[in-house]
Amino acid sequence: MEIIYSITRLKESLQKQRVAGKTIGFVPTMGALHAGHAALVTLCASENDVCVVSLFVNPTQFNNKEDLRRYPRTWEKDCLLLEQIGADVLFAPSVEEMYPEPDNRFFDFGLLDKVMEGRYRPGHFNGVAQIVSKLFAIIAPDKAYFGEKDFQQLAIVRAMVKQLKMPVQIVGVPIVRENGGLALSSRNTLLTEQERGDATNIYRVLRESVEMMKIATPDKVTDWVIDQIHAVPDLRVEYFEIVDGDSLQLVASWDDSESVVGCITVFCGDVRLIDNIRYK
Ligand code: PAF
Repeated sequence: MEIIYSITRLKESLQKQRVAGKTIGFVPTMGALHAGHAALVTLCASENDVCVVSLFVNPTQFNNKEDLRRYPRTWEKDCLLLEQIGADVLFAPSVEEMYPEPDNRFFDFGLLDKVMEGRYRPGHFNGVAQIVSKLFAIIAPDKAYFGEKDFQQLAIVRAMVKQLKMPVQIVGVPIVRENGGLALSSRNTLLTEQERGDATNIYRVLRESVEMMKIATPDKVTDWVIDQIHAVPDLRVEYFEIVDGDSLQLVASWDDSESVVGCITVFCGDVRLIDNIRYK
C-alpha cells in the first residue's frame, strides 16, 4: 500500500492508473478504523482495480471543538489493517493540504439537512459536503463507499453528487454490528465496559420495535422506543424519528412511503451513538 500525503502526488499517481484503463474505488474515512470500515474497503477492493482510502479528521464537520479533540486517532493500527485488507493507496493529507484557505462554500440541501443530525449538529453536513466534494474532485473515483449507519450522511452525499453532477456511483454498505448488536463506530472505543453493555440495548429496542409496527402507528412506536431506551440507566435519547428513507421527513402512517427507516441518536454516558433500523 502506498501512503500519499500530497494532493499533487495523489493526482499524478491516479492519472497513471486511469490512463492504463483501471477503475478507481474510494472509501473516505476519519481513521480509528474498525470492522465497519473494513467491510467498505473489502467491498471497494473487490469491485475496483484500485482501492483508495482517505484518512482525514475533517475539522469543518465538527461543530464541537471538544468532540474534535477527543476523536480517536489510531494511525499505526489503521495502516496495518488497510494493508491487510487490500487497500492500494492511503491518502492522509494534513489540514493545511486540504484547507490552504478557509472553505466558505455553502451547500443547500433543502430539508434533508434540517432534520435529525442536522438539527442537533448545525453545520455538520455542510462540513461533510465540503470535504467529500473536495476528495471526489481530487480522486475522481468511479465508485465511493459509505456506511448505512450514517444514514443521513449517505442521503446528503447522494444529494450532493446529484447537485454537482459528479460522475461517481455512491454505494451504501450495511451496518456491521458487534456480537451484542451494538453498531460499530469509532466512538465505541470511548465507552467503558459497563456503558458498552448498556449500549447493546439500543439495537435490542430497535429490533423489537419492528414487531410493534404491526399494531401501532409510527408516533406510538416512537414513544415506545424512547421509553424503552430511557428505562436503561446511562442511556438518554437525543432523538428518534421514523422517516421516509429518501426525503428523511417524518411519516405519519406506515403507508406514507415505500421506504421507512427509524433513526436514533443516544447518549451513553457522554458518548454520542447513532443507529438506525429499516421498517420497510
Ligand atoms: O463518515 C465519516 O467518517 C466522515 O463523515 C467522512 C465521510 C469520512 C467525511 O469526513
